[in-house]
Amino acid sequence: MEVIIQPDPNAAARLTSRIIADEVRRNPSLVLGLATGRTMETLYKYLVREHRDHGLDFSLCRSFNLDEYVGLAPENPNSYFAYMNRHLFKRINIDLRNTHVPNGVAADLDAECERYEALIRRHGGIDLQLLGIGRAGHIGFNEPLSALRSRTRVKSLTPETIAQNAPLFDPPDSIPRRAITMGVGTVLESKRCLMLVTGKEKTEVLAKAVEGPITSMITASALQLHPRCTVICDERAAEKLQGKDYYYWIFSNEPEWEKYRKDL
Ligand code: F6R
Repeated sequence: MEVIIQPDPNAAARLTSRIIADEVRRNPSLVLGLATGRTMETLYKYLVREHRDHGLDFSLCRSFNLDEYVGLAPENPNSYFAYMNRHLFKRINIDLRNTHVPNGVAADLDAECERYEALIRRHGGIDLQLLGIGRAGHIGFNEPLSALRSRTRVKSLTPETIAQNAPLFDPPDSIPRRAITMGVGTVLESKRCLMLVTGKEKTEVLAKAVEGPITSMITASALQLHPRCTVICDERAAEKLQGKDYYYWIFSNEPEWEKYRKDL
């Protein structure tokens, strides 16, 4: 795992978007794993800008979202399907037929989870998986005690996650209690992971995920097992990291990061 600390949330999102843009340029038919949430909104603004101002071409990319609420139809504005169209898909040139979000209103949810896993396999697996972290330490909706080898399935949301996301619903208690989510095992099979973490409310959980023991209580900690995982965070989120000096050193010295040190 590598940790890259940036001065503020915008710089962290901007760096993440530059890495994604470079991956798309290197492999135009990249299979992207995508996340939703407040942190990603800033990132998607930068990706839209890469497309609009620098011609980043998504026309051959394929995408798979991590999760979707059970019971929300795609046209529901709170669905992650609607979120993705609003913040990214309708603002870039991705072919909507190549975008995939689990169907939260499938008649048979278990069959839908199996179909989703099979579809990812059929596309050759995920090349670049984008992740955020919830205050409960989750990636996707892999709540505490999710098996570290879990696959796409239905999960019950914790009270903490419900409290975190309820303000986005009107009324807040209309938030669904369950979601379909890719499993921790599904995420770990992706070729590269990028986790974007910003803000003071993520300070404690980020330190646990990055420097604590690998535990199903904090499913993001399983990323320590991934051979190519980069965590990009801002200074507020990094406040409790013990190894900060080393992480700063990596970004300032490793050749891999040289081109990203200059803000273009
Ligand atoms: C949603 C997802 C979640 C979020 C996490 C952080 O697709 O994968 O794990 O990334 O809950 O959400 P925000 O950014 O709203 O704090």
